[in-house]
Amino acid sequence: MKRIAVLTSGGDAPGMNAAIRAVARAGNSRGVEVFGVRWGYEGLIEGNFRPLGPRDVGGIIQSGGTILGSARSLEFKTDEGRKLALDNLASAGIEGLVVIGGNGSQTGAYTLHQLGFPVVGVASTIDNDLVGSDMTIGVDTALNIALEAIDRLKVTASSHRRAFLVEVMGRDCGYLAVMSAIAGGAEMAIIPEVVTTPEDIAHTLTSSYERGKTNGIVVVAEGAAQNAGELLAALRPREKELGFEIRATTLGHIQRGGAPGAFDRILASRLGTMAAELLIDGTSGVLVGQKSSKLTTTPHEEVAGKTKPIDLALLRLAEILTG
Ligand code: F6P
Repeated sequence: MKRIAVLTSGGDAPGMNAAIRAVARAGNSRGVEVFGVRWGYEGLIEGNFRPLGPRDVGGIIQSGGTILGSARSLEFKTDEGRKLALDNLASAGIEGLVVIGGNGSQTGAYTLHQLGFPVVGVASTIDNDLVGSDMTIGVDTALNIALEAIDRLKVTASSHRRAFLVEVMGRDCGYLAVMSAIAGGAEMAIIPEVVTTPEDIAHTLTSSYERGKTNGIVVVAEGAAQNAGELLAALRPREKELGFEIRATTLGHIQRGGAPGAFDRILASRLGTMAAELLIDGTSGVLVGQKSSKLTTTPHEEVAGKTKPIDLALLRLAEILTG
């Protein structure tokens, strides 16, 4: 290959820029021209490409977000959209593509591969729900941002004998909620994978209050059956019985906006480099990820449209450690 491109798609994740840098520099070091696609799959449809030389990706490893921009493209899901994308890639002389993103993005990558265009994926989403990687780019940083908020909420909660429902991201997967509950010393985590009723939460909080605790943190995943606002409405009338006053905080996109930590910078650098090298050497239709500390590839066929199951033993661990 003489010319490849890279795009970021779906929700941005801290470390995406480090992955873009790695793809550009690994490609350049092999004498291959690298182009960045603006605004995810939309940029393919519009032919919005820009050259990425080694100096174009200088000074970005420490920045959150993505210098290329990202989007969730509906047009790319249509036959016409994909045809336009392939025509634009052909006219620009681009022979292969690296797709940095989560589930929807890797499903798009698989479609291009099935249409005969060489594509390699890089596992990146703060949700950590992608089959094919133990950890995806952005998770570690997002988790640390959630933890900083939880630590602060505990301080104010203790001052008032309050319980906080803290909503973290995670549309289909409770990974961020469970891990931030364990690391933040929360009472419990409410996740999409397990049914938990307001009654269950009331029971846990009452018991914590009776054991002498001055604060109660309940981490709620965004995709849980009831979100933090709905749980607040159900629990607030029961404050007398709970002991704690109750409040809710939604962290939302704050978790996505941070500067990447060391773990995400290194993971992104390794995955991006491997993806560029595999693509240039003729591999297509795989996701590059990390399993048991080793870099791995998983066929896109096994990744697209799937959700990685969470280890429910982690939920039990959070409960045991409540004390
Ligand atoms: O997929 C990552 C994620 O942050 C999910 O946790 C969340 O549900 C979704 O993106 C939010 O999407 P948007 O940024 O489009 O509102």
